[in-house]
Amino acid sequence: MSEKKQVFVPFLDLKAQHRPLKDELMAAFSDAVDNTAFVGGPAVASFEKNFAEYCGAKHAVGVSTGTDALRLAFLAAGIGPGDEVITAANTFIATSEAISQTGATLVLADIDPATRILDPAAAEAAITPRTKAIVPVHLYGQMAPMDEFRRVADKHGLLLIEDAAQAHGARWNGQRAGSFGDLACFSFYPGKNLGSCGEGGAVTTGSAEYAEKLGQLRDHGQSKKYHHEIEGFNARLHAIQARFLDIKLKHLDGWNAGRRDRADRYLAAMEEIPGVRLPVTRPEAEPVWHLFVIETPGRDELQAFLGEREIQSGLHYPIPLHLQPAYARLGLGKGAFPKAEKSAAELLTLPMFPDLTDEQIDWVAESVREWASNR
Ligand SMILES: Cc1ncc(COP(=O)(O)O)c(C=O)c1O
Repeated sequence: MSEKKQVFVPFLDLKAQHRPLKDELMAAFSDAVDNTAFVGGPAVASFEKNFAEYCGAKHAVGVSTGTDALRLAFLAAGIGPGDEVITAANTFIATSEAISQTGATLVLADIDPATRILDPAAAEAAITPRTKAIVPVHLYGQMAPMDEFRRVADKHGLLLIEDAAQAHGARWNGQRAGSFGDLACFSFYPGKNLGSCGEGGAVTTGSAEYAEKLGQLRDHGQSKKYHHEIEGFNARLHAIQARFLDIKLKHLDGWNAGRRDRADRYLAAMEEIPGVRLPVTRPEAEPVWHLFVIETPGRDELQAFLGEREIQSGLHYPIPLHLQPAYARLGLGKGAFPKAEKSAAELLTLPMFPDLTDEQIDWVAESVREWASNR
């Protein structure tokens, strides 16, 4: 054990984010209670307008969760039984659940081992005559190579739908996540770069037709009260969450800049540690560092070592989808997606939030270096 004083490093400190906003958040809550404005209405419309503008998209439709954003986006695009939809083997299960829940067939593909993002060539190789859409995931706040995905999608006449749940504000060639796909899906789960104080999600799109369909799907298939054009869902964004999100959206660029600065410090402090791979960013990308994920063959030991030093860490995600019991039906065993499997076995998510101090980052980096040098 080093002689140095231990520094507690939490995985995430949302309290620090909320402290300076508390009066504004409480005033918004109080106003909503006074006006009994809880579902839909001008607060949701305001946030939708501001979020669409932020992403560089024509429309944003607020929904109840990021998972519903995906499910409703797929349904709005007409995806259903008989269709195949391709996504990354290493994504969070919400992406694949939403595909399956439309009745479509889930098709997984392997990743680029450097960026841990769905590999466009692997996705293209998985295309069949039944393929309807490709769903790249901007995992960890890193952008998928959207020009390559657009080329593949257009070449094969497929829909391109972004899972941008971890990438609010990330850019590819200067253009923001949410403005590339035919549809793009966001989560406002509290720990996301833009998080509500509960649950929330949104779909962005350039298509007025999709936006209208999404508006129906989230509200029992109606565009006018009790006139149901189709069967839909109750998947509406709460008005109180929309107010909170509008308040927080004004800070998103500042928070993302803070994350970038923290990531740069991590990257410099952990340069050339033998056996430890750092996150790789393509030159076209400007990531928003939702998560800071390193890889090392001794991952479990490193996690235990950091834990002893009061450094919290996480695993995003320790088992790729094709090896989950939920997807035993795919009949894909070990070795089906070797790059995703290796990443899952070796990844470790270090603390990442804009308020991490220099002292905390240096303590994490020093600890990783010390662990690696004593292996
Ligand atoms: C990549 C990805 N897709 C989808 C989701 C689903 O979002 P939510 O938790 O808001 O349903 C999440 C977040 O949990 C996610 O990380």
